[in-house]
Amino acid sequence: MQFYVDSANIDHIRHAAALGFISGVTTNPSLLAKEDPHIDPKIRILEIHKLVGGHLSVEVISTDFKGMVKEAEDILDWFPEATIKIPTIPEGLAACKILSKQNIPTNLTLIFSPTQAMAAENAGATYVSLFMGRLDDISFDSINVLKDICEIWDVQGYESQIIAASIRNPIHLIEAAKAGAHIATVPYNVLMQSIRHPLTDIGLKQFLDDYDRLQTERQKAIIL
Ligand code: E4P
Repeated sequence: MQFYVDSANIDHIRHAAALGFISGVTTNPSLLAKEDPHIDPKIRILEIHKLVGGHLSVEVISTDFKGMVKEAEDILDWFPEATIKIPTIPEGLAACKILSKQNIPTNLTLIFSPTQAMAAENAGATYVSLFMGRLDDISFDSINVLKDICEIWDVQGYESQIIAASIRNPIHLIEAAKAGAHIATVPYNVLMQSIRHPLTDIGLKQFLDDYDRLQTERQKAIIL
């Protein structure tokens, strides 16, 4: 399972990218709205792409299919490597079909059920994004929904990549990987929680302290 960063924060993305295990970034209008309003979102997105390379999803804000297709074309004019992120609504599926016929990569977002995911696949989506945390928020077990989607993908031999999105904690990541998601898109704080462990920090401190002690003892031994 690959890791993407789910963020539009340049400092977080710069740090995560430097760690060497990130393959892409997903943004959405809410994530962009959290950032400095003085910076044009287009500039921000190009800056992110320069830092990370790989996958970068950019979301349309139109809700009619013609508007979505037009917006996708506009995005590709200034950012030809973009994956176009489209809401999984009826108009979004229609837009996805048109874009997929032109081999434009699409990420069908705001998916909450296996049937939405299947519709997205059949409309030619490149990626299907299941929002786990938001399902859990309404007391609906997101892990079971993801397991169902992954099983269907196996049985049917579907080709789109399953993204576990709306990740809230490291358990989501473990369960997504076990279920067979291809990618997890992860907020920066959860990424950091996932790679840190108190026993690693304690163990490292012990190694360094012991090494210092060894050096001191050796100095003393040499002098004597
Ligand atoms: C996915 O691509 C979305 O940007 C994201 O995962 C939404 O997550 P949220 O529920 O934390 O807003």
